Amino acid sequence: MRVAIIGSGPAGFYAAEALLRRDDAVVDVDMFDRLPTPYGLVRGGVAPDHQKIKTVIRVFAATAARPTFRFLGNVCLGRDLTVEELRRHYHQIVYATGNESDRRLGIPGEGIARCTPATVFVGWYNGHPDYRNAKIDLSIERVAVVGNGNVAVDAARILLRTPAELEKTDIAAHALQTLRSSRVREVFMLGRRGPEQAAFSSAELKELGAMEAADPVIAPGELADCAQSTGNAETDRNLKVLRAFAAHVPRAQAKKLHLRFLVSPTQIIADADGNVARVALERNRLEARPDGTVAARGIGRIEMLEVGMVLPAIGYSAERITGVPYDEKARIIANEDGRVVDAASRAAIANEYVVGWARSGPQGLIGEHKRASAHVVGHMISDGAGLEARALPDRDVIVKLLRGRGVQPVSFNDWKQLDDVEVARGARRGAPRDKIVDVAAMLAVLGQE
Ligand SMILES: Cc1cc2nc3c(=O)[nH]c(=O)nc-3n(C[C@H](O)[C@H](O)[C@H](O)COP(=O)(O)OP(=O)(O)OC[C@H]3O[C@@H](n4cnc5c(N)ncnc54)[C@H](O)[C@@H]3O)c2cc1C
Ligand SMILES: NC(=O)c1ccc[n+]([C@@H]2O[C@H](COP(=O)([O-])OP(=O)(O)OC[C@H]3O[C@@H](n4cnc5c(N)ncnc54)[C@H](OP(=O)(O)O)[C@@H]3O)[C@@H](O)[C@H]2O)c1
Repeated sequence: MRVAIIGSGPAGFYAAEALLRRDDAVVDVDMFDRLPTPYGLVRGGVAPDHQKIKTVIRVFAATAARPTFRFLGNVCLGRDLTVEELRRHYHQIVYATGNESDRRLGIPGEGIARCTPATVFVGWYNGHPDYRNAKIDLSIERVAVVGNGNVAVDAARILLRTPAELEKTDIAAHALQTLRSSRVREVFMLGRRGPEQAAFSSAELKELGAMEAADPVIAPGELADCAQSTGNAETDRNLKVLRAFAAHVPRAQAKKLHLRFLVSPTQIIADADGNVARVALERNRLEARPDGTVAARGIGRIEMLEVGMVLPAIGYSAERITGVPYDEKARIIANEDGRVVDAASRAAIANEYVVGWARSGPQGLIGEHKRASAHVVGHMISDGAGLEARALPDRDVIVKLLRGRGVQPVSFNDWKQLDDVEVARGARRGAPRDKIVDVAAMLAVLGQE
């Protein structure tokens, strides 16, 4: 049996492990990634000051060491390779391409300079090659981070950490340099709903109270309508942390993180140079829906918040890939429980599967993909009986095809070489690694121009 997995993030690696563990069949797994480097958001999303979670890559490296696994980095499906070609060379295909676009606020002024979506800001500080040249101008003093999820928390924290807190992490060198001269003093984290509906988790929230030179600030009135006990343990933990923040007097010299609730940006306004100057915020009230959910509704009361940068961190969505059915509404690969389906008729597309955020949308932690990917592999096993009888081209033909197109696939051993170089570079500043952020530079290290 030969399987192609597209995407080397957690979902792709957990799917590979579940396939390679099979003792009833020998499975050859080719894992493609558009980047020369593996691990998806573990490398390009997880915050640099959260090194512990990144140790999960040891689990993935153990999968990569299995004899029938092969990594083909620097190969982008839809650009270097078509779905039709994959179908010719593999018995089954697994899309594990994640969610690489950002969701939009859809308000006037969203495109102006210094309105920077989380995908860009996060990719920039994490050294993702797509965002290494992003224009991040931190010569301003006040930033609005829109959203109340863990990505908003990450972005706010990175803006407020001191260089000393960041230099021993694997933050991209260009980001560290810009942050060293940052003039940001105040960050406003804006939730459209209330504290009880916030999506961030309590461990991440608590960390905001333990920054070296920045303190959270929350007006007690923001918590006035919150219940003492909500019946949800994690929400209660969040409220406890927020109450502790509200009771704490921030240090006079500290930078400030203002936590605001029940406000939605309605317009981003530029100064004469075309940069963000302020954001219009509408006050919201909560409205219970018949299905039990609680929505934010604007009440028409507008305030102006003077900020020099707006950073929407309101969720991600899947990119479209030519030849792969796309669910416009959910902004994911069209699927039924991990089986890819035609977006219109919902008829199953034989032998094609989807895992991770490309399957479910942008919710969930790294560890949760283990069970979820194994579940989809369960479908692959039950659907795939007898498929291996179909003769395929030799396993190396796909590499020859790519090379013929001028594409240089990067193997897992090549990646290990890059890894060694990054780790050695990082050691110079006492960091776990100093990332190479440019694909051409990575290929040059590997002797492939
Ligand atoms: C900013 C941020 C911080 C996070 N921090 C944490 C955290 O601290 N702890 C935690 O548990 N979870 C965290 N998460 C969540 C976690 O990262 C996700 O649950 C997980 O990475 C999703 O896995 P995935 O494999 O579906 O997608 P991804 O990790 O995004 O992997 C997708 C892979 O597909 C590749 N790809 C995309 N398109 C193509 C193509 N056309 N051809 C070839 N390859 C392609 C990409 O290069 C990428 O390597 C964070 C998420 C974000 C956004
Ligand atoms: N350290 C970690 O463990 C870590 C770090 C980063 C990310 N992650 C995980 O990665 C996943 C994605 O995180 P995320 O923060 O991108 O998404 P998220 O948890 O879904 O949070 C998105 C936030 O944006 C808000 N929002 C959405 N549309 C909006 C709009 N139009 N206007 C204003 N606000 C809007 C949402 O508010 P509503 O609730 O009102 O919709 C919510 O507060 C989550 O599962 C998260 O836990 C984990």
